[in-house]
Amino acid sequence: MNVRVYPNGDLAAIAAAVLIAGQVVDDPQSVLGLATGSTPLPIYRELIAMAHRGVLDFRRVVTFNLDEYVGLGPEHPCSYRRFMQENLFSQVKMREEQIHIPDGLAADPEAECRAYDAAIAEAGGLDLQLLGLGVNGHIGFNEPAPRFTTNSYCVRLSEQTRRDNRRFFAQGETMPTHALTMGIASIMQARRIVLVATGPKKAQAVRDMILGPVDPMVPASILQMHRHATVLLDSEAASLLP
Ligand code: GLP
Repeated sequence: MNVRVYPNGDLAAIAAAVLIAGQVVDDPQSVLGLATGSTPLPIYRELIAMAHRGVLDFRRVVTFNLDEYVGLGPEHPCSYRRFMQENLFSQVKMREEQIHIPDGLAADPEAECRAYDAAIAEAGGLDLQLLGLGVNGHIGFNEPAPRFTTNSYCVRLSEQTRRDNRRFFAQGETMPTHALTMGIASIMQARRIVLVATGPKKAQAVRDMILGPVDPMVPASILQMHRHATVLLDSEAASLLP
């Protein structure tokens, strides 16, 4: 694990955007694994700015997002499909056929997950997976559990995660109880992983991820075993590191 600490979140986001941009410049047909949440937003803003300046071209990349809420379709304002459309895809003129996100409305969620893993494999596997970090140490929606998960699957969200992500849902809007997520093995197969964590709320999870044992109760700790994982932190998220 290569850990880098930046004075603030904006710089950590720029560092992440530079790594992603480097991947796309080196291979314009890169297969990117993307994440949602508030952490990637400044990263996507940087990438959009580079695309608008003409230094980055997303026309041939292929993307796979980590997860989607069960029950939310692409038009739902809180779906991750909609989030990605608004915050990245539409602004870098990506076409539908380049984009993959699990279908939250799939009649058979398990079949949808198997098809999702098959699509990643068919695309040649993920060149670079971007990750955020849950307050409870989750990555994607892989919650703390007795065992590390393997392939993509349908997960019941923990109360903590539902509380943490409530802020993205309007008042009166029902917060989903389940999500479809890439599993830990799906994530670990990415050739490169870039995890970004910012802000004081992530400090304990960051410490456990980096210094703790590899433990499925801290799903992100598995990244200690990845050959090419880079962790980008701001000083607040790194505040419990020695
Ligand atoms: C959600 C997503 C994760 C993300 C996490 C942290 O649970 N499924 O992929 O890393 O939120 O979000 P934030 O960056 O808003 O703290």
